[in-house]
Amino acid sequence: MSYKVRFVNPDRNYLMIKDEIDTAYFEVMARGDLIDRVHLKGFEENLADFVGTKFAVGLNSGYDALHISLRAARIGPDDEVIVPAHTFVATASAVVNVGAKPVLVDVGKDFNIDPDKIEEAITEKTRGIIPVHLNGYMADMDHIMEIAERYDLVVIEDACQSLGASMNGKKGGFWGLTGCWSFYPFKILGGYGDGGAITTDDPDVALFATRMRYNGEDRETGEYHGHGFTCLLDNLQAAFLDIKLRHLPTWIERRREIAERYKAALADIPALMLPHYSDPQRDHVYQNYVVRAKQGDDFSEYLKKEGVEVLTQFRKPYYKHEALKLEDRGFPETEALSREVCSLPMNVEITEVEVDYVIEIVRSFYGK
Ligand SMILES: Cc1ncc(COP(=O)(O)O)c(C=O)c1O
Repeated sequence: MSYKVRFVNPDRNYLMIKDEIDTAYFEVMARGDLIDRVHLKGFEENLADFVGTKFAVGLNSGYDALHISLRAARIGPDDEVIVPAHTFVATASAVVNVGAKPVLVDVGKDFNIDPDKIEEAITEKTRGIIPVHLNGYMADMDHIMEIAERYDLVVIEDACQSLGASMNGKKGGFWGLTGCWSFYPFKILGGYGDGGAITTDDPDVALFATRMRYNGEDRETGEYHGHGFTCLLDNLQAAFLDIKLRHLPTWIERRREIAERYKAALADIPALMLPHYSDPQRDHVYQNYVVRAKQGDDFSEYLKKEGVEVLTQFRKPYYKHEALKLEDRGFPETEALSREVCSLPMNVEITEVEVDYVIEIVRSFYGK
């Protein structure tokens, strides 16, 4: 189906920065710099600077970032790791794939793990917590770090959806042992294919990830330091991501403008819960603009029928998928929001006319 307003417009985004991207492409190709070259190092330095950590290590995906982080923390069989019940499945899959057990915890009204429910999920086997900063808004890290310290737990931040978001002036990805990043094309910093990274202050973790992404090999000595993986961020992708990273602060401002326009135009609809929160310590970068509509599918289907492309992630919570064999301890907030979530178009390429159209269609659903 062709939509009047698409959810994202990667083609238009490319045209906005075409000269810079094309220059980088021809430069990298002319030099034949495909693997582990200067662009990767440059991007890693700039990413670490942006987040405020000492190191960044480019990987192949956000999943790899989580997986390598868990291994760096020596989490494995017999260990338990706390994860939110509402997140992209990769958060839990990374835990399962190192042989540990994800223990799910319900989320709050901001879609992030509810810190007040973490302690009841801690057992003597708990080794870590993976808070997810969902949709561009950080989990309550002050509270989570305090619990982690008290129980001596490793914190790995799944910041895949929140590059640029902060709490108390400290960016997401800065607090835990690692911050895990995804550069999947439709992320706030999206590449032209898969990509990811970890950020960390720990030199041993950075070194471990640098070796593991290259099948365990130390590239300088040729020594294998363990059985690793093939999960290096391509030099070409790094060159593109570095360009986009320079635009990110302006692009975040643009996202906030769009969010404010949605808020101003839709706040008078009581059946619609908007993603604006009153915590002055945290800011939102609006990776996604997720509303909760009491009318669920009727709402999202109406928008699609009227030509507005929306996403409903996730109508079926991941722990309800039988093949994943995860323990459902009962998560009322996740269940409720899963029936109601609807992400409106939110990207830097959208035009004012398109924003107006989205607003008009949402309002018309409510007879306004
Ligand atoms: C919250 C969250 N965690 C993990 C991931 C995994 O990232 P990737 O798709 O790059 O493996 C994603 C992205 O899809 C995500 O949104």
